[in-house]
Amino acid sequence: MLTRSEVLAVRQASVSLSGHPILKDIDFALNAGEFCGLIGANGSGKTTLLRTVLGFVMPTSGSVTMEAGGRASIGYVPQKFILDPYMPMRARDLVALGLDGNRLGVPLPSRGRRRKVDEMLEAVEATPFADQRIGSLSGGQQQRVLIAHALIRRPRLLLLDEPLANLDIRSVAGIVALLRRVSRELQTTVLLSAHDMNPLLSVMDRIVYLAHGRAATGAIDAVVRTEVLSRLYGYHIDVVRVHGRVLVVAAEGEGDAQTAIQRDPVHVAQVP
Ligand SMILES: Nc1ncnc2c1ncn2[C@@H]1O[C@H](COP(=O)(O)OP(=O)(O)OP(=O)(O)O)[C@@H](O)[C@H]1O
Ligand SMILES: [Mg+2]
Repeated sequence: MLTRSEVLAVRQASVSLSGHPILKDIDFALNAGEFCGLIGANGSGKTTLLRTVLGFVMPTSGSVTMEAGGRASIGYVPQKFILDPYMPMRARDLVALGLDGNRLGVPLPSRGRRRKVDEMLEAVEATPFADQRIGSLSGGQQQRVLIAHALIRRPRLLLLDEPLANLDIRSVAGIVALLRRVSRELQTTVLLSAHDMNPLLSVMDRIVYLAHGRAATGAIDAVVRTEVLSRLYGYHIDVVRVHGRVLVVAAEGEGDAQTAIQRDPVHVAQVP
């Protein structure tokens, strides 16, 4: 059951893939209009959790509940969206496809349709390249178009799987600001996965931090703490705040908090 303000509730959900336990006892709920970061290292289960919310994967125990309207009102930007660079499709055509949802067939052009697409392109600041071929756009521009594609049906919940990966620092800041603004304007709840929480610190209302198949969930200050994350990892880690950034650091020889940082030099290299 959901409370009145909740859009999504994941309750004690455990998930196995091919018989292997991947997620255990994941428990959180999102209120309307909230911005939630789903944070974890490679392989921690971010994509699996998003796919479970989408209903592509069934939990082995526990539950995933969407508000009335259900999964039809989820927008999704997948992690691996491979665009053929030579596909003869303009940015605006991809956004328009988002209007058709699950319906098959060639949609009829209409004035209302054109207006909705133009509004959405404007909202994600994609108007200047709306008529360019999608394959000719930069990563950050493509990401804006994919977000517009997912948002055009005004979903109540928007899931984005690593939308900030492969973008430079300026594009990351631009996409984060855009998502925060658009989610407020449309009252869309956002659940966004990322391996680095730092670009999201100023916009997250809530965090779901995954490690070893379990999650610590709640407000950032309640979750991103030495005691809480040490309990989650099962060994001592330190949460270090330096120059406005958060680093999650394990002692040498301890598991994946440390390796996550080594694999992702951005954690260290960007400290001014
Ligand atoms: N079909 C499958 N069968 C068994 N195990 C799987 C399957 N798909 C994924 N896994 C495993 O589940 C775990 C979680 O994978 P998932 O893709 O959800 O992680 P992730 O956090 O999204 O990682 P990344 O940051 O690399 O995208 C990984 O250990 C992965 O190897
Ligand atoms: Mg993933």
